[in-house]
Amino acid sequence: MFNEIPDELKGRMLFLEKADRLDRTDGTPRAKRLRQITEDTGKFLSILAVNLPEGEIIEIGTSAGYSTLWLALAARETGRKVKTFEIDPEKVKLARETFGLSGLEEHIELIEGDFFNYSAQLGPIAFCFLDAEKEIYEKCFAAIADKMVRNGLIVADNATDQYEGIKPMIDRALEDERFDCVTVPVGNGEFVCRRK
Ligand SMILES: C[S@@+](CC[C@H](N)C(=O)[O-])C[C@H]1O[C@@H](n2cnc3c(N)ncnc32)[C@H](O)[C@@H]1O
Repeated sequence: MFNEIPDELKGRMLFLEKADRLDRTDGTPRAKRLRQITEDTGKFLSILAVNLPEGEIIEIGTSAGYSTLWLALAARETGRKVKTFEIDPEKVKLARETFGLSGLEEHIELIEGDFFNYSAQLGPIAFCFLDAEKEIYEKCFAAIADKMVRNGLIVADNATDQYEGIKPMIDRALEDERFDCVTVPVGNGEFVCRRK
Protein backbone atom coordinates (compact mmCIF):
# COMPACT_ATOMS: atom_id res chain seq x y z
CA MET A 1 0.00 0.00 0.00
CA PHE A 2 2.67 2.55 1.01
CA ASN A 3 4.99 1.80 -1.91
CA GLU A 4 2.15 2.35 -4.37
CA ILE A 5 1.52 6.01 -3.51
CA PRO A 6 1.63 7.97 -6.79
CA ASP A 7 4.07 10.91 -6.98
CA GLU A 8 1.31 13.54 -7.11
CA LEU A 9 -0.31 12.18 -3.95
CA LYS A 10 3.05 11.89 -2.20
CA GLY A 11 3.71 15.50 -3.19
CA ARG A 12 0.44 16.68 -1.64
CA MET A 13 1.14 14.70 1.54
CA LEU A 14 4.59 16.30 1.84
CA PHE A 15 3.10 19.75 1.15
CA LEU A 16 0.53 19.28 3.94
CA GLU A 17 3.15 17.90 6.37
CA LYS A 18 5.28 21.00 5.76
CA ALA A 19 2.32 23.39 6.08
CA ASP A 20 1.29 21.72 9.35
CA ARG A 21 4.83 21.94 10.80
CA LEU A 22 5.05 25.58 9.84
CA ASP A 23 1.68 26.74 11.18
CA ARG A 24 2.44 25.21 14.61
CA THR A 25 5.33 27.65 15.03
CA ASP A 26 4.67 30.74 12.91
CA GLY A 27 1.90 32.29 15.01
CA THR A 28 -1.02 31.07 12.87
CA PRO A 29 -4.16 31.28 15.07
CA ARG A 30 -5.35 27.90 16.35
CA ALA A 31 -8.59 27.96 14.34
CA LYS A 32 -6.62 28.34 11.11
CA ARG A 33 -4.01 25.65 11.88
CA LEU A 34 -4.25 22.28 10.13
CA ARG A 35 -3.61 20.29 13.35
CA GLN A 36 -2.89 17.08 11.44
CA ILE A 37 -2.01 13.62 12.62
CA THR A 38 1.60 12.43 12.30
CA GLU A 39 2.78 10.36 9.34
CA ASP A 40 3.12 7.31 11.63
CA THR A 41 -0.47 7.72 12.75
CA GLY A 42 -1.51 7.91 9.09
CA LYS A 43 0.20 4.60 8.38
CA PHE A 44 -1.35 3.09 11.50
CA LEU A 45 -4.82 4.18 10.32
CA SER A 46 -4.25 2.72 6.84
CA ILE A 47 -3.17 -0.62 8.28
CA LEU A 48 -6.19 -0.78 10.60
CA ALA A 49 -8.66 0.36 7.93
CA VAL A 50 -7.58 -2.13 5.31
CA ASN A 51 -8.99 -5.01 7.30
CA LEU A 52 -12.47 -4.05 8.46
CA PRO A 53 -15.87 -5.72 8.74
CA GLU A 54 -18.82 -4.44 6.63
CA GLY A 55 -20.04 -0.96 7.45
CA GLU A 56 -19.34 2.73 7.05
CA ILE A 57 -15.83 4.14 7.32
CA ILE A 58 -16.10 7.63 8.78
CA GLU A 59 -13.85 10.42 9.98
CA ILE A 60 -14.90 13.28 12.26
CA GLY A 61 -12.63 16.27 11.58
CA THR A 62 -11.16 16.47 8.06
CA SER A 63 -9.12 19.69 8.23
CA ALA A 64 -7.20 19.86 4.90
CA GLY A 65 -7.67 16.12 4.35
CA TYR A 66 -4.26 14.73 5.39
CA SER A 67 -5.59 11.92 7.62
CA THR A 68 -8.37 11.24 5.09
CA LEU A 69 -5.71 10.45 2.46
CA TRP A 70 -4.30 7.67 4.64
CA LEU A 71 -7.77 6.23 5.20
CA ALA A 72 -8.54 6.56 1.48
CA LEU A 73 -5.43 4.53 0.61
CA ALA A 74 -6.96 1.67 2.59
CA ALA A 75 -10.35 2.33 0.98
CA ARG A 76 -8.78 2.12 -2.49
CA GLU A 77 -7.14 -1.18 -1.57
CA THR A 78 -10.51 -2.63 -0.56
CA GLY A 79 -12.87 -0.85 -3.00
CA ARG A 80 -14.54 1.13 -0.22
CA LYS A 81 -15.26 4.79 0.59
CA VAL A 82 -14.42 7.09 3.50
CA LYS A 83 -17.06 9.57 4.65
CA THR A 84 -15.34 12.56 6.25
CA PHE A 85 -17.06 15.40 8.13
CA GLU A 86 -15.74 18.97 8.40
CA ILE A 87 -17.55 21.91 9.95
CA ASP A 88 -15.21 24.79 8.95
CA PRO A 89 -15.86 26.07 5.38
CA GLU A 90 -12.23 27.22 4.98
CA LYS A 91 -10.97 23.73 5.83
CA VAL A 92 -13.55 22.23 3.48
CA LYS A 93 -12.08 24.34 0.67
CA LEU A 94 -8.57 23.07 1.44
CA ALA A 95 -9.79 19.48 1.67
CA ARG A 96 -11.54 19.72 -1.71
CA GLU A 97 -8.26 20.93 -3.19
CA THR A 98 -6.38 18.03 -1.54
CA PHE A 99 -8.84 15.40 -2.71
CA GLY A 100 -8.95 16.86 -6.24
CA LEU A 101 -5.19 16.35 -6.54
CA SER A 102 -5.08 13.00 -4.79
CA GLY A 103 -6.36 10.58 -7.41
CA LEU A 104 -8.41 9.07 -4.57
CA GLU A 105 -11.60 11.12 -5.05
CA GLU A 106 -13.80 8.12 -5.82
CA HIS A 107 -12.91 6.73 -2.38
CA ILE A 108 -13.75 9.90 -0.45
CA GLU A 109 -17.05 11.59 0.38
CA LEU A 110 -16.53 14.99 2.01
CA ILE A 111 -19.50 16.22 4.00
CA GLU A 112 -19.52 19.90 4.93
CA GLY A 113 -21.17 20.63 8.26
CA ASP A 114 -21.51 19.64 11.87
CA PHE A 115 -21.11 15.88 12.30
CA PHE A 116 -24.00 15.83 14.77
CA ASN A 117 -26.40 16.96 12.03
CA TYR A 118 -25.66 13.71 10.19
CA SER A 119 -24.84 11.16 12.86
CA ALA A 120 -28.43 9.90 13.31
CA GLN A 121 -28.67 9.04 9.58
CA LEU A 122 -25.50 6.93 9.51
CA GLY A 123 -25.81 3.19 8.99
CA PRO A 124 -23.77 0.55 10.85
CA ILE A 125 -20.18 1.77 11.34
CA ALA A 126 -17.07 -0.34 10.78
CA PHE A 127 -14.49 2.37 11.52
CA CYS A 128 -14.50 5.84 12.98
CA PHE A 129 -11.47 8.09 13.19
CA LEU A 130 -12.25 10.74 15.76
CA ASP A 131 -10.14 13.88 15.45
CA ALA A 132 -12.28 16.95 16.19
CA GLU A 133 -12.31 19.38 19.15
CA LYS A 134 -11.52 17.42 22.29
CA GLU A 135 -14.61 18.78 24.11
CA ILE A 136 -16.91 16.85 21.76
CA TYR A 137 -15.18 13.44 21.85
CA GLU A 138 -17.49 12.04 24.49
CA LYS A 139 -20.58 13.25 22.61
CA CYS A 140 -19.17 11.70 19.40
CA PHE A 141 -18.59 8.40 21.20
CA ALA A 142 -22.18 8.46 22.49
CA ALA A 143 -23.47 9.17 18.96
CA ILE A 144 -21.67 6.22 17.35
CA ALA A 145 -21.23 3.54 20.04
CA ASP A 146 -24.59 1.85 19.32
CA LYS A 147 -23.89 1.83 15.58
CA MET A 148 -20.51 0.09 15.77
CA VAL A 149 -20.55 -3.38 14.19
CA ARG A 150 -18.78 -6.37 15.74
CA ASN A 151 -15.02 -5.92 15.34
CA GLY A 152 -15.61 -2.33 14.27
CA LEU A 153 -13.02 0.16 15.53
CA ILE A 154 -13.14 3.66 16.97
CA VAL A 155 -9.74 5.39 16.93
CA ALA A 156 -9.46 8.66 18.84
CA ASP A 157 -6.46 10.93 18.27
CA ASN A 158 -4.48 12.84 20.94
CA ALA A 159 -4.88 10.19 23.64
CA THR A 160 -1.50 11.04 25.15
CA ASP A 161 -0.73 14.68 24.27
CA GLN A 162 -4.26 15.83 25.18
CA TYR A 163 -5.18 13.06 27.60
CA GLU A 164 -6.95 15.38 30.07
CA GLY A 165 -9.04 16.90 27.26
CA ILE A 166 -10.37 13.56 26.03
CA LYS A 167 -10.46 11.79 29.42
CA PRO A 168 -14.29 11.96 29.62
CA MET A 169 -14.53 9.96 26.39
CA ILE A 170 -11.80 7.52 27.46
CA ASP A 171 -13.51 6.92 30.81
CA ARG A 172 -16.88 6.41 29.16
CA ALA A 173 -15.43 3.91 26.66
CA LEU A 174 -13.56 2.01 29.39
CA GLU A 175 -16.81 1.68 31.34
CA ASP A 176 -18.72 0.46 28.29
CA GLU A 177 -18.58 -3.35 28.42
CA ARG A 178 -19.28 -3.64 24.70
CA PHE A 179 -15.74 -2.40 23.91
CA ASP A 180 -12.14 -3.57 24.33
CA CYS A 181 -9.93 -0.46 24.56
CA VAL A 182 -6.22 0.29 24.50
CA THR A 183 -4.03 3.37 24.06
CA VAL A 184 -1.38 2.88 21.38
CA PRO A 185 1.78 5.02 21.66
CA VAL A 186 1.96 6.06 18.02
CA GLY A 187 2.04 9.74 17.07
CA ASN A 188 0.14 11.76 19.67
CA GLY A 189 -1.41 8.60 21.13
CA GLU A 190 -4.30 6.70 19.58
CA PHE A 191 -7.10 5.40 21.81
CA VAL A 192 -8.48 2.35 20.02
CA CYS A 193 -11.85 0.78 20.90
CA ARG A 194 -12.97 -2.51 19.39
CA ARG A 195 -16.65 -3.39 19.47
CA LYS A 196 -16.97 -6.93 20.87
C1 LIG B 1 -7.52 18.28 14.58
S1 LIG B 1 -8.33 18.87 13.17
C2 LIG B 1 -8.44 17.45 12.12
C3 LIG B 1 -7.14 17.07 11.50
C4 LIG B 1 -7.26 15.97 10.45
N1 LIG B 1 -7.92 14.80 10.97
C5 LIG B 1 -5.89 15.53 9.95
O1 LIG B 1 -5.19 14.82 10.70
O2 LIG B 1 -5.51 15.91 8.83
C6 LIG B 1 -9.97 18.97 13.78
C7 LIG B 1 -11.02 19.39 12.74
O3 LIG B 1 -12.31 19.05 13.26
C8 LIG B 1 -13.24 19.98 12.76
N2 LIG B 1 -14.47 19.89 13.58
C9 LIG B 1 -14.62 20.30 14.86
N3 LIG B 1 -15.88 20.04 15.29
C10 LIG B 1 -16.53 19.43 14.25
C11 LIG B 1 -17.85 18.92 14.08
N4 LIG B 1 -18.77 18.99 15.06
N5 LIG B 1 -18.16 18.35 12.89
C12 LIG B 1 -17.25 18.28 11.89
N6 LIG B 1 -15.98 18.76 12.00
C13 LIG B 1 -15.62 19.32 13.17
C14 LIG B 1 -12.46 21.30 12.89
O4 LIG B 1 -13.01 22.32 12.10
C15 LIG B 1 -11.05 20.90 12.48
O5 LIG B 1 -10.79 21.16 11.12
